[in-house]
Amino acid sequence: MKKMCPFSLLILLALSIYGPNLINADALGPTQPPIFILGDSTADVGTNSYIPDCNATANFPHNGIDFVKSRPTGRFSNGLNSADHLARLFGYNSSPPPFLFLHSLKYGLQSGIYRGVNFASGGSGLLDETGLQLNVLNLPQQINQFVTVRRNLTAALGPELTEAFLARSLFCISTGSNDIFVYFKTRSTMPKEEFINLLMEAYENHIKTLYSLGARKFGIISVPPIGCCPANRLLNGTRCFEPMNDFARCFHSALDKLMCKLSSELHGMKYALGDTYKMTIDVIDNPRPFHFKNVDTACCGHGTLNAEGICNATASLCSDRRQYIFWDLFHPTHAAARLAANTLYGGPTLYVSPINFAQLAAEN
Ligand SMILES: *[C@@H]1O[C@H](CO)[C@@H](O)[C@H](O)[C@H]1NC(C)=O
Ligand SMILES: *[C@@H]1O[C@H](CO)[C@@H](O)[C@H](O)[C@H]1NC(C)=O
Ligand SMILES: *[C@@H]1O[C@H](CO)[C@@H](O)[C@H](O)[C@H]1NC(C)=O
Ligand SMILES: *[C@@H]1O[C@H](CO)[C@@H](O)[C@H](O)[C@H]1NC(C)=O
Repeated sequence: MKKMCPFSLLILLALSIYGPNLINADALGPTQPPIFILGDSTADVGTNSYIPDCNATANFPHNGIDFVKSRPTGRFSNGLNSADHLARLFGYNSSPPPFLFLHSLKYGLQSGIYRGVNFASGGSGLLDETGLQLNVLNLPQQINQFVTVRRNLTAALGPELTEAFLARSLFCISTGSNDIFVYFKTRSTMPKEEFINLLMEAYENHIKTLYSLGARKFGIISVPPIGCCPANRLLNGTRCFEPMNDFARCFHSALDKLMCKLSSELHGMKYALGDTYKMTIDVIDNPRPFHFKNVDTACCGHGTLNAEGICNATASLCSDRRQYIFWDLFHPTHAAARLAANTLYGGPTLYVSPINFAQLAAEN
């Protein structure tokens, strides 16, 4: 791709904004699955902005600088994140809105739920205590919100249609990184294998709960090479912090085994598992073919690698945002998130297996 034309970017972003124009179910094409999204800041499209006293927010500049009207939306991004890009790939003009946004509207939970809902909350993880002090929504709380949505669906459609609706819906989950951050931050002495097993136990419980509530298709997004994000590079000069990357790789292989096991145990359960470790490290190791030039510095932030402070109004800001992989000290840019979403959607088994997200949606 050549230089990004700012005008087409604007149009693209204008299409992607979620807003009060709530879609109704009849407007959806037959190939568009409803998308329910759970997880952390990689998929949060504004949830945390609705939580009073939340300590992990991004609803201020320079976040959102490439969004329509340069509006900060709560996304930890200059523009869109992976959840948005995935929704676009499935043919939606805009991302499924945050549950708390719908909740704030009079009829939001009646009319706004037919293309799916986003529950993801930045700072959360697989373990209940991850993100506790940040006052974010952990996965059981996110699942409870889904229970509310399911109740509303059932009230409107009846139990049988709701079951069919949920069975063809995609349940995308992007989580795990924050648990590993906390493990390192608290200098946990728990052996690695034991810790990864703990995370897998939690993942298994969450998936089984969602399955019992009618979820059948799971799009699982693994942990990226978090040791290479600018914040964690500071732990090794400016190079990737390998101990964290090692945890991320172990997390993925354990998750691969878990998902395989669950799909044989849970009747009718299907999944696609995105290896975000591999897809991201391949770009970091060889950025040029993907038109990236900077793989270590945050575009927006403070100090060394722009990784010593969050992206806020007084942060230094790069001008060529399309050339950066990292937007802030932890999160990908609009461009990097789009590349990841493209790969999840249509990528080969090297990156997403046993099938990709498009194939998952097409399964009967
Ligand atoms: C559906 O959602 C609305 C809020 O929009 C709520 O007041 C109502 O009680 C819900 N209905 C059911 C049956 O859960
Ligand atoms: C939460 O925010 C307050 C003030 O903004 C800060 O003092 C505190 O350290 C933060 N807590 C955490 C766990 O980050
Ligand atoms: C620091 O970076 C170097 C060069 O990439 C690598 O060989 C080494 O393992 C890293 N050390 C840690 C603790 O991550
Ligand atoms: C932005 O972040 C920096 C570094 O964390 C902090 O010193 C500064 O006060 C913040 N500025 C605003 C406007 O919040």
